[in-house]
Amino acid sequence: MIEVIESLQDFVSDQLSLLLPIDEAWQPTDFLPDLNADDWADRLNRFRETARALPDELLVVLVGNMVTEEALPNYAISVERIARDPTGGGQAPWARWLRGWTAEENRHGDLLNAYLRLSGRVDMRSIELTIHHLISDGFTSGHEGHEYAGLIYSAFQERATRLSHGNVARIAVKCGEEGLAKICRKIAADETRHEVFYTRIVAELFERDPEATLLAYHSVLRRLIAMPGSRMTDGQLPNLFDHFAAAAQRSGVYTSRDYAAIIRHLNTTWGLENRSFSGKAAKAQDYLCRQPERYENLADEIGARTADQPSVPFAWLNGRTV
Ligand SMILES: [Fe+2]
Ligand SMILES: [Fe+2]
Repeated sequence: MIEVIESLQDFVSDQLSLLLPIDEAWQPTDFLPDLNADDWADRLNRFRETARALPDELLVVLVGNMVTEEALPNYAISVERIARDPTGGGQAPWARWLRGWTAEENRHGDLLNAYLRLSGRVDMRSIELTIHHLISDGFTSGHEGHEYAGLIYSAFQERATRLSHGNVARIAVKCGEEGLAKICRKIAADETRHEVFYTRIVAELFERDPEATLLAYHSVLRRLIAMPGSRMTDGQLPNLFDHFAAAAQRSGVYTSRDYAAIIRHLNTTWGLENRSFSGKAAKAQDYLCRQPERYENLADEIGARTADQPSVPFAWLNGRTV
């Protein structure tokens, strides 16, 4: 299977235009108060004033999204295991994608980190500790033996983060925090290009090696997809990720309906219903085609459950409860 991934070099080469040329790319500084300006203190004060409009629940979600982005070294390592770049500076298309993608993603954590730090609304040390734990603990998508699973997982995740950042932007506008909305829209636009890349790669795998791709997809969806930050801990609050996920669900940033919608979208894009398989693969196909409906049916129940969850104190928020 590694040979099939390797054989995609030309296909990957055609997709490299999904990365922005560096001189056209935004940088975190473009969205932050200019601390070099003579009136930097006024600019910073205005920035902090608008950031006060964000409710604590949205702040928790924003911190969780940021922590997830900041664990980028974990994801870079896992993509490198698929798209190998033995020298670290190779010019093969896969190697160029891996580095270009990492460089673009790196701005997401940087920008959200700076935004939250300058806002003065969160306990940065506790957040940094969470990031330190998360990177140090490592990350696995848990599908050993299925070489394509990491690419399928990435297609799912890019779409999930795109939705999530996009929804934070929408809510920030409602709160009157246009600055944060702009930031999250920019990040979401990156995720969209990345999603297109991984989705096309998987579509191509479905053409070149349909059965193994289908079985890898089945492995990814066999149980609830573990989110990249699911092992996060601040060393204090047990099940931190679950509390973050509940806040995301309640605020409408990322809900079980979104989860179902992503699977439905991927199934349609990869033409799952129209492919013909036999034996074990046919069973897997049938299972996959039923998943969107299954999660749609569960959505109300999950929504009600998280709505009832008692609030907890977040060290991220200096102990304020959400
Ligand atoms: Fe990202
Ligand atoms: Fe991403």
